[in-house]
Amino acid sequence: MGIEIRVDGLKKAFGRQTIWEDVSFTIPAGEISALLGPSGTGKSVFLKNLVGLLRPDRGHVYVGGRDVPRLRENELYDLRRQFGVLFQDGALFGSMNIYDNIAFPLREHTRKGEAEIKRIVLEKMEMVGLTGAEDKLPGEISGGMKKRAGLARALVLDPEIILADEPDSGLDPVRTAYLNQLFVDLNTDLGATFLIVTHDIGTARVLPDNLGLLFRRGLVMFGPREMVLSSTHPAVNQFFNARRQGPIGMAEEKDQAQLDDEGDAPPAMPAPIQPQLMPSDGRTRPGMRRPGQWLHEHGVTAPPGSFIDDEGRNWLTDWDRLTTGGHRPR
Ligand SMILES: Nc1ncnc2c1ncn2[C@@H]1O[C@H](COP(=O)(O)OP(=O)(O)OP(=O)(O)O)[C@@H](O)[C@H]1O
Ligand SMILES: [Mg+2]
Repeated sequence: MGIEIRVDGLKKAFGRQTIWEDVSFTIPAGEISALLGPSGTGKSVFLKNLVGLLRPDRGHVYVGGRDVPRLRENELYDLRRQFGVLFQDGALFGSMNIYDNIAFPLREHTRKGEAEIKRIVLEKMEMVGLTGAEDKLPGEISGGMKKRAGLARALVLDPEIILADEPDSGLDPVRTAYLNQLFVDLNTDLGATFLIVTHDIGTARVLPDNLGLLFRRGLVMFGPREMVLSSTHPAVNQFFNARRQGPIGMAEEKDQAQLDDEGDAPPAMPAPIQPQLMPSDGRTRPGMRRPGQWLHEHGVTAPPGSFIDDEGRNWLTDWDRLTTGGHRPR
């Protein structure tokens, strides 16, 4: 289950402004990946290239053996059935109530009857905590509610690939925690491939199996969570530890004078790697790895204090005990 996305030599420019180039990496099937980067580095543009809403200037996007930029309109229509996409602005139809917005893909892409559609729509609305908002228009609900309505709509076709552009922006911290758990559980249930764009370092550090960073017109790094979070690459270290010191400045890139001011201090020690979010009810997930596995295989020492949860349990040493016999992850 889930489909791999392989991006090869991708370049996108608008006029003379190159957004990014030479982007090549594979988003593994059935795993949760997150893409981060300073504002304006082209994360939303990247997602639109994956579903064929924008065409790259160069390169390939292979989804299940098909090269998206080379598909015709009718082929793209078929391809998009496999995707559930939550756009950054929610992209709800303003004149349609929330119920009809969420029902839209089912009416457009399936022959299901209204009773079946109602069952699915109400189930997804409950899942994202929107029960009771059926009759409201998008203009009558909060920004966070719009996000969750967009997410419910992205889920109704049980897609193989779920793309979510800042699903957590505009959500309060408690709802963000519920949303992250929902992603883990959905991934467990559907086995779908997830790519989530987020600015929330808290989310990025505990949710995904893989992390990527866009900066300076390219993909700086993409790989397993433990690789990225233990990295001392200056931009990666700065971004995932939310530090001021490093190459990323307020206006994206620092000028030489600013960098000279900071001197040649070595990158600070990466913060402890927390245990990854687990599926509810002690289930297992295809992309799940044993804590410390990547670090061990690559001879990298974990940052001090890693893999200890809020209750002081050590997931590195006690993994077997914590994942068997009535374990209930939070
Ligand atoms: N249709 C378009 N035509 C021209 N320029 C565009 C278009 N869409 C995006 N851009 C430009 O591409 C760049 C990247 O935009 P994008 O929205 O992908 O950034 P982002 O990384 O998603 O930022 P944020 O974190 O603020 O959402 C920006 O400079 C933007 O102005
Ligand atoms: Mg964006």
